[in-house]
Amino acid sequence: MRAWLSRNLPLLIAISVLLMIAQLLRQVWPSASAFAAMRAFLHAWGWYFLALGLLLGALAWACRVHWQGKAPAWLYRVISMDILDRLTNKQQVEEAAARMDDEALVIDADSLAASLQAKVVGQNAVCQDLAQQVRRRMALLQRSKPIGVFLFAGPPGTGKTYLAKVLAAELSRKLLHFDMTQFAAGSHSATQLFGMTKGYVGSDSYGKLTGGLRDHPAAVVLLDEIEKAHPEVLKGFLTAWNDGFVTEASDGKHIPTTHAIFILTSNAATDALSQLQRDLASDPDGLRMASVSALREQGFAPEVLNRIDRLFVFAPLAGLDVARVCALEMEAMIRGYGLDVARGGVDPDIIVQLMQRYRRMGTAASSRDVVRALEESIADSLIKAKQLGYRTIELRMEDGKVKARAWAEPVAKPRP
Ligand SMILES: Nc1ncnc2c1ncn2[C@@H]1O[C@H](COP(=O)(O)OP(=O)(O)OP(=O)(O)O)[C@@H](O)[C@H]1O
Ligand SMILES: [Mg+2]
Repeated sequence: MRAWLSRNLPLLIAISVLLMIAQLLRQVWPSASAFAAMRAFLHAWGWYFLALGLLLGALAWACRVHWQGKAPAWLYRVISMDILDRLTNKQQVEEAAARMDDEALVIDADSLAASLQAKVVGQNAVCQDLAQQVRRRMALLQRSKPIGVFLFAGPPGTGKTYLAKVLAAELSRKLLHFDMTQFAAGSHSATQLFGMTKGYVGSDSYGKLTGGLRDHPAAVVLLDEIEKAHPEVLKGFLTAWNDGFVTEASDGKHIPTTHAIFILTSNAATDALSQLQRDLASDPDGLRMASVSALREQGFAPEVLNRIDRLFVFAPLAGLDVARVCALEMEAMIRGYGLDVARGGVDPDIIVQLMQRYRRMGTAASSRDVVRALEESIADSLIKAKQLGYRTIELRMEDGKVKARAWAEPVAKPRP
């Protein structure tokens, strides 16, 4: 409706003005010839109508450019007086605001890396490299492409998706998360992301990506499992990365991508990447180059690889990091049931059992699969604990099985 009004408003106004003229002419028509009537009418009313026409025309134009998002900045200044105009020196405030924006762009890579590492276990090299890249790229003021297009590659369950979420939270940016397995079905997927061409059902609402970037231009766009995306969807992303904008199909509007960070994740070529990581542990640049070649050999879309700013290879989890991640995932799973795990309420044998299971799975190991197996065995007791109104539970190993019980605060023993 809004789009239709935007297109046809000048026409509607022209018709209503003509109708008004006709109405007035009808009143003077019988008393004079057509020419004289017109002259008399214009003499009496002409200037008013000219002024009214100009005013309505200007109003129609202003509405139209505003709805199309093409309104010049001065229009808003004319229509709504900026409250800051009342200050004696508005420019001083504007300069201070610009300075503050610039400061926000220059982030401290060390503190960002430290906060990422505090949450993402066992991926210190990736966290440090990512923090450096983000800092350098955000500091660039002139940009015709996104801040960064980063590919996170590596084995499942090593924190790729999780790091993207943590990065968005640390940078206080909106996360637009797309699971590319849901966009594997050709043109339908492309329309879901980039909008529907005019004239089709749904053509008056924006695509998920275009709408998201319109509302949050500085978002972190997470494209999970990018290798699953349909080639047509990939084509749309290539323009987003190369040209610095995406085109919304319904109204042809360009939505800028120059303030966004794109993060792609993939677990293609996992075995080859893990082997390279062992061989080139002390040569990060060599590892990156060899990893790109390995991905290309395994059929990863070359046009995507060519457009990536940086590849981050995630290490398989090892040693105590497996225990940490399993414990974190287990807590997240239990929280999913609306329960909390008491501090000190997990039997260490449970974590040891999870680590053994992880090791038995070899290269296919994923903390998620390990914890899912645990969930199957304790789901019933978690549901029962919830039904009984428990909020905090402990997990104990009894007769080789994991049991969830209500948490009872240890009673302090009286001093002798
Ligand atoms: N390195 C890690 N540090 C902290 N938590 C982790 C780490 N890796 C995995 N996790 C936990 O496991 C969950 C699943 O991890 P995540 O989804 O990031 O794995 P992934 O590498 O994206 O795997 P996949 O390739 O299968 O998508 C996370 O939500 C987090 O709770
Ligand atoms: Mg993932």
